[in-house]
Amino acid sequence: MHPVETAYRERTPGSAALQASAREVFPSGVTHDSRFIQPHGLYVQSAAGAIKVDVDGNEYVDYFGGHGALLLGHAHPEVTRAIHAALDRGTHFAAGHAAEIAWAECIIDMVPSAQRVRFTASGTEATQMAVRLARAYTGRQRLLRFRRHFHGWLDDMAAGYLSHFAHGTPVGVPGNLGDNLLLADQGDVDSLDRLLAEHAGEIAAMLVEPLGAGTGRLPMDDAFLAILRDRCDAHGILLIFDEVITGFRVSPGGVQGATGVIPDLTALAKIVAGGLPGGAVCGREDVMAGLDFAQPEGKQKVYHPGTFNANPVSAAAGRATLEIIARDSPCESAAAYAATLRDGLNDLFARRGVPWAAHGRSSVFQLFLNAAGVPLDPRCFDPFALPVETLLQQDAEQVRLLRLALMANGVDLAPWPGGMCSSAHDEVALERTLGAFDAAIDLVA
Ligand SMILES: Cc1ncc(COP(=O)(O)O)c(C=O)c1O
Repeated sequence: MHPVETAYRERTPGSAALQASAREVFPSGVTHDSRFIQPHGLYVQSAAGAIKVDVDGNEYVDYFGGHGALLLGHAHPEVTRAIHAALDRGTHFAAGHAAEIAWAECIIDMVPSAQRVRFTASGTEATQMAVRLARAYTGRQRLLRFRRHFHGWLDDMAAGYLSHFAHGTPVGVPGNLGDNLLLADQGDVDSLDRLLAEHAGEIAAMLVEPLGAGTGRLPMDDAFLAILRDRCDAHGILLIFDEVITGFRVSPGGVQGATGVIPDLTALAKIVAGGLPGGAVCGREDVMAGLDFAQPEGKQKVYHPGTFNANPVSAAAGRATLEIIARDSPCESAAAYAATLRDGLNDLFARRGVPWAAHGRSSVFQLFLNAAGVPLDPRCFDPFALPVETLLQQDAEQVRLLRLALMANGVDLAPWPGGMCSSAHDEVALERTLGAFDAAIDLVA
């Protein structure tokens, strides 16, 4: 057994025991694919600020960040108070309530494209509803998406995500769904224009992760967003931004707020619901009007039930979170922390002679572990300078060992590998993180 794995096992016997029980009830013992890691993932008992505590009492600086939902860190006191107050009033009214209106008003105030809002239970549902609205509005069937852009796990969003889907659909998804899909490469304007020359009149919407695939793991120039806006306008196609991660993170108005490129529809989740389940689709009033019960002669209403839409507890958490984001400057402080962390890591890698690099935008960092072994200077790493395949090539065992080594030293990364920073990450978290990487390099590099 690799010494990293031995160290991790010795530190986490409680997690190992719970994972053994979990394997009796869940396939592979996990409840989300990205929480799977051998020999076992962490079992967490509590979290506050930037720190999670596992069932063995070990602390971790957390960069998984509730899969991106926690811009303010864990258990922010104002958000927690709002959740408690909502809980005491009841968890589900199967009726309208004042908090859902206040929550939607926050979104309309903050997100430039939002004229009307419809809440969903997740980001997966939000992207799906955005596409359905676009199809209803345009009367067209096809969806143009970008290879490797992630939009949730429903069938329409599966093909084209990760490499093997380029030529088909993944297992469990009907192959003919691809008939309604066109796949383009981010940043490649010529091939986009060739696709449009042939198919523009069939395309209802373009759907894009506006920082690039994997929240900028494959970085994308903002100028490409403006080109998409231009092409959509030229061809009567609706532009949908998937701001499930970037919304309220890149700026209070998401990427659209930061760049001024305004989509027709926006999918939101994660931060929008303040760490509780929830999502939203928002956008132009005339497109969102597809959900109205009163429709013009010959038009059908877009169907949208959903037991947990605008759940009152999620509404309370979401509203409290958005009010803090509008009032304070957590987007800026989380981004400043992430920039310092990226620089600190690149300095460390350079000093230690490790050919790795940290990159990313806003409060997100991406780790490039250089599986292809290209020569590089971490201090002036430019992800745009590398071929896509080199940038994305990974050695799964190297990633696993790095993550275990970091967990053994008190840092929990997201599995890409990389992470999302919050406004609760501070100097202490930074020192601990750099120290953990220094130790992990000895164990892994
Ligand atoms: C960009 C993006 N879109 C959509 C989703 C799906 O959101 P959810 O997990 O809430 O269904 C995710 C989830 O990570 C995401 O990162």
